Amino acid sequence: MNKAFYITTPIYYVNDKPHIGHAYTTIACDVLARFKRLDGYDVKFLTGTDEHGQKVAKAAADKGITPLQLCDQNSQNFRDLAATLGISNDDFIRTTEERHKKACQALWKTLEANGAIYLDKYAGWYAVRDEAFYDEGELTKGPNGERLAPSGAPVEWVEEESYFFNLSKWREKLLALYDSTPGFIGPKSRFNEVYSFVKGREGDAQPLRDISVSRTTFSWGVPVPGNDKHIMYVWIDALTNYITALGYPEQTPDFAKFWPNAMHMVGKDIIRFHCVYWPAFLMAANIQVPQRVFAHGWWTVEGQKMSKSLGNAIDPNALVEKYGLDQLRYFMMREIPFGNDGDFAESAIAGRINGELANEFGNLAQRFLSFIGKNLGGVLPEPGEFATEDKEILAACKKLLPDCCAAMDAQAFNEALEAIWAVVRAANGYVDKQAPWTLRKTDPARMNTVLYVLAEVTRHIAMLMQPFVPTSAAKVLDQLAVPADARDFAALATPIKGGITLPTPTGVFPRYGDPKAAKGA
Ligand code: MSP
Repeated sequence: MNKAFYITTPIYYVNDKPHIGHAYTTIACDVLARFKRLDGYDVKFLTGTDEHGQKVAKAAADKGITPLQLCDQNSQNFRDLAATLGISNDDFIRTTEERHKKACQALWKTLEANGAIYLDKYAGWYAVRDEAFYDEGELTKGPNGERLAPSGAPVEWVEEESYFFNLSKWREKLLALYDSTPGFIGPKSRFNEVYSFVKGREGDAQPLRDISVSRTTFSWGVPVPGNDKHIMYVWIDALTNYITALGYPEQTPDFAKFWPNAMHMVGKDIIRFHCVYWPAFLMAANIQVPQRVFAHGWWTVEGQKMSKSLGNAIDPNALVEKYGLDQLRYFMMREIPFGNDGDFAESAIAGRINGELANEFGNLAQRFLSFIGKNLGGVLPEPGEFATEDKEILAACKKLLPDCCAAMDAQAFNEALEAIWAVVRAANGYVDKQAPWTLRKTDPARMNTVLYVLAEVTRHIAMLMQPFVPTSAAKVLDQLAVPADARDFAALATPIKGGITLPTPTGVFPRYGDPKAAKGA
């Protein structure tokens, strides 16, 4: 049986239009999903939309439409975005679906039956923008002395009957989970942040407080079973999506196979929900916790925070149109170590497209493939005996797969790309030094070996680039006549065959800003 891997994006709030923050998480998950599939895993990749809660209800009211109308419109925007970004998701969940309501209510009943939920009265601060409750001590002061959430969102005082989840009881179990499974949260800085939040400060009377999990002042959500005056807090509803999609509450084969291998990718702002609340809900329902949660950083745009008021949120569709899809995917994965914050600047993306994709990788393939086309009738030569330099660069290729696997398992996308790029650069150095165009006259047998080595090196690079730049990598593999059924990572072990006829090469990575260049792939 193949190894299994379950990867999820956060489900996106439908009150907002998709922007590069959403595109980033989804692209990162897609790169990982594609990588694992090529590496022989059975993968299930889930994305979707978070459609309940006060924020969505307010946005619909502002527009004068019903919440469901708003959800239908905006959920479609996220579905369309996934298509534009070439996302290979296996399912798209909407929290307004019947299967989800069923899963939420089943989870609720289990929590209630296990004594983890009780009815009381809530009095405290709530930020609709964050859909989160805050303690007085967490709040800051705005410019006019008004109270603000730590995220800067306005807060309102809420006082109502509410169900509570007994989070305080799970403190020791959570700490034991973090202690026994340090890989549960990545990167390390986020692990530390969550750990100290749960541990609390020395002398805290109650470091972790029970949380309110239902609301009565609006109705856009999943009703609490047996008391439909209450609707479930949007986060308990939202987090449940990850098991809804596996068929929960049914014990489906998908659940048995994928849930023990689950990984949630999230932004740094929603780590508390995923690393504290979610494992506590699951433990309280006697469900296994996921394997890992990884929190990435946030993008700014030309040095500025993205915000509605600045109107600087970038539409990912426009970026794909402008730079090309593979170019955008490559840039996002390459520019910043996954986990850190980064800046989206025109000069940076243009630099990566031209400097790395066009000049380094594109030229490498172009140079020797057009040489073979022009001088050898397009036939890839058979190699002779390998010289030391050949063996060195072929050995570097062999190391790429294990190095990339290790980097990808740590969600260090930029490190995987750096490892690939070290070989791209070495290969360019190799072409310059071996100079096949000179060998053509002086030593044709050696020229044949050099061209063969270049084809084999380029095959390795293109194979490992597939998850990042699927369309362009496929074009390079087409030009090397690599059959469609020999493109998974297991096929790396079988060297390319000499003597095959290659198709006529064409440029794969256009330069950005070059008016003659075709728009990106
Ligand atoms: N609906 C919740 C998630 C529920 S998951 C069970 C939510 N939705 S969201 O649409 O507001 O945000 C989704 C993701 O986008 C979050 O992971 C968030 O970190 C990410 N980003 C939002 N702005 C971002 C940037 N500027 N940069 C990078 N990612 C950002 O939260």
